[in-house]
Amino acid sequence: MKTPGGSDAAKRRAGEHAADLVTDGDVVGLGTGSTAAHAIRALGRAADAGLDVRGVATSYASRDLAREVGIPHVDLAGVERIDVAIDGADQVSDDLDLIKGGGAAHAREKVIAAAAERCVVVVDPSKEAGTLGRPVPIEVLPDARVTVRRALRDLGGEPTLRAAERKDGPVVTENGNLVFDCDFGSVTAPAALATDLAAVPGVVEHGLFVGLADEVHVGHADGVRVRTP
Ligand code: A5P
Repeated sequence: MKTPGGSDAAKRRAGEHAADLVTDGDVVGLGTGSTAAHAIRALGRAADAGLDVRGVATSYASRDLAREVGIPHVDLAGVERIDVAIDGADQVSDDLDLIKGGGAAHAREKVIAAAAERCVVVVDPSKEAGTLGRPVPIEVLPDARVTVRRALRDLGGEPTLRAAERKDGPVVTENGNLVFDCDFGSVTAPAALATDLAAVPGVVEHGLFVGLADEVHVGHADGVRVRTP
């Protein structure tokens, strides 16, 4: 589920601010969503100006945009480490834990965030929350949707299968799986919930990113606030 709203100018400030961190020779994780797209466009301009940079995409959309703006692409399977990952988020807590997966790309996003030396999150202020509380996206094996739904309810969640727009039926991820958006109310213990979700057979990946963000760049009307843990 995408967060509606948020100023595009604020997103652009955050994305461009993060892109400025990239240095010559870096392999960069390219996030998914409207805020990360600003960083990708800025990196494309920097590449045009001579910056030596290669991008590892978190989704078809980010790979297509990288191609369009001239960032050489490297497959995730072809890199052992990533220098900087720049990605958006659907919600950021006071502790810099995240909910991601509004674009159903969180499985690749998490691999890339975890592999990055520096994981930089870019948001507008509408994403900031003291405590996480949005429904958590959970990618599941299609055949396991019934057993996973029951397990999520046992964990206190209320899962809703994500429906596609402009297509009948559910969202199917780039990995061929389905997505539940699971409402747990206020997530007061994200690390414990993340552990519980990861232990459910049939869950491919969940959108709780606990302890992965090294910094969060929040775009504002008058500049960018950098938050660190
Ligand atoms: C993609 O799966 C998500 O994790 C995105 O990073 C998230 O939805 C942020 O997108 P926006 O920057 O468009 O809000």
